[in-house]
Amino acid sequence: MNEVTRAIADFISGETGLSADELHRWIEVPRDPQWGDYAFPCFTLSRTMKKSPQNLAREIVLKFKPAGLLADCTTAGAYINFRIQREVWAEIVLQRIFFEGPGYGQSLEGAGKRILIEFSSPNIAKPFHVGHLRSTIIGHALCQIFERRGYDVVRLNHLGDWGKQFGEVITAFKRWGSLEQLEAKPLKHLLEVYSRFHQESKDEEPLHEEARGWFRKLEEGDPEARSLWSRFREISVEEFKRLYKFLGITFDSYEGESFYQDWLPGLIERMRGTGLLIESQGAWVVPLEAYQMPPALILKTDEATLYLTRDIAAAEYRFEKWDFAKMIYVVGVPQRLHFQQLFKVLELMGYEWSKRLAHVDFGHVLGMSTRRGEVVFLQDVIDEAVQRAERVIEERGEDKEARIGKILEKERKNIARAVGLGAIIFNDLRTKRTKDVEFDWDRILGFEGATGPYCQNAHVRCCGIMRKYSGEVMAAVDYGVLASDEELDLIKRLREFPEVIERAAAEYEPSVIAVYMLELAMSFNVFLARHRVLGEEKRVTQARVLLTHGVKRVLAACLEILGMEALERM
Ligand code: ARG
Repeated sequence: MNEVTRAIADFISGETGLSADELHRWIEVPRDPQWGDYAFPCFTLSRTMKKSPQNLAREIVLKFKPAGLLADCTTAGAYINFRIQREVWAEIVLQRIFFEGPGYGQSLEGAGKRILIEFSSPNIAKPFHVGHLRSTIIGHALCQIFERRGYDVVRLNHLGDWGKQFGEVITAFKRWGSLEQLEAKPLKHLLEVYSRFHQESKDEEPLHEEARGWFRKLEEGDPEARSLWSRFREISVEEFKRLYKFLGITFDSYEGESFYQDWLPGLIERMRGTGLLIESQGAWVVPLEAYQMPPALILKTDEATLYLTRDIAAAEYRFEKWDFAKMIYVVGVPQRLHFQQLFKVLELMGYEWSKRLAHVDFGHVLGMSTRRGEVVFLQDVIDEAVQRAERVIEERGEDKEARIGKILEKERKNIARAVGLGAIIFNDLRTKRTKDVEFDWDRILGFEGATGPYCQNAHVRCCGIMRKYSGEVMAAVDYGVLASDEELDLIKRLREFPEVIERAAAEYEPSVIAVYMLELAMSFNVFLARHRVLGEEKRVTQARVLLTHGVKRVLAACLEILGMEALERM
């Protein structure tokens, strides 16, 4: 709801006696602006009022008197079309952005509430794959979104640092690894020996036996197993942290799966106590047939615990520690069943708070590979993005200084990094998260079309105008100047921003922001193609500078939410 739709709903409510909130839902924006700025279709209303829609529309229009934001009102069949007092609205919207500053779009809806957002959660001693990258990008954006809704956001990284694969890693390292190599290229070396385990162990039962043995030792606290494991963990975490730093992300907790070892015996006791656990072929499970799900396996025959068991423990522990209003898990679609089982088991354990949990799932990334081949090392992807972005900027950049290389080498590197990363992030976030994402280098780095660089470039254009403008930006301008359709379009979009954040939060959907940002950038480019900001009569320039300032603010806020840099030059 905005000031205009509110005024329309109030007016019709005054004439019909129906609730304005109810009426508000029917207000539309006509596809062709020549009809009006907003329209109210009378179909539904005509049934309640027992009149034909056309007659009803005509009767209501007869009562209209221009006032405040509403300038004019006409009928077209069953529709009532409204024209708005553009300057009044421009003033309301642009002043609000000007005076609220970076707070524009924020709300206190979540004040006093805490949300736990678990995301990224890679596995140690294994590659950080594109699924983890997606989780990282989406999770980070959700943190930004909920912060702007006033929530206390806690960022969790549920590291995959426990489980039978560590028996395999230790076995592999003992056989083929070396400490020197581990020093020299830590993660790569671990991955090398680990993939060798997979090649050589195909039909090699003894190797698997050895791996199970090492995991058992690890669970029992054997010093050698523990020390190797903790070295591997350290190496991986260091590497992940480097990456997060590059992405500008921090976590409040890295308590991974291994953290819950001491919690598990108590948990199993509690579960036995409730009678939930039943024995099935030597293992212990919670039957979930009644809910159309396979049984949840809690304890294996050899008493080893599982991924799911550790997740139950983590949820209990986190609720005790943080007393959350919501907790969300940003994890790919393939783990849907896992989370359904997890939430159901927690519910059956009698936890009222199980209703506060949500699995925020997402689809696959298709076609991401680097020159070095199909196995994607994230660093390679990023390096390649930066290199490619450098080339693109040189050829096509908006800012001539950047193009002809007058900007310092160091700044150019920063720009290329921000553009490369921005391209990857935007490509990921522009589609609804449950859909698969196509990854194609040439498309994501284009300056035209729905890309990250396109959006960043719109912000750069705003900055360029502001840099060249010699006067002061002020809120006391002649708003009557902002009367064109292109300007109204921008005002409308700017006014939507707070609701856009609200919707993104309600649906756990950063794509709502990405799509909005793209449309705002497109509208701004259309505006610039038809109107000049600088070099016009003074009152025109002043008003359009204020508009540009508003666009810049909102574009920058969107970029920041999505984890992209709001560049000033490129
Ligand atoms: N480490 C897991 C993986 O890479 C993701 C963890 C998801 N979070 C959770 N609480 N289970 O597949």
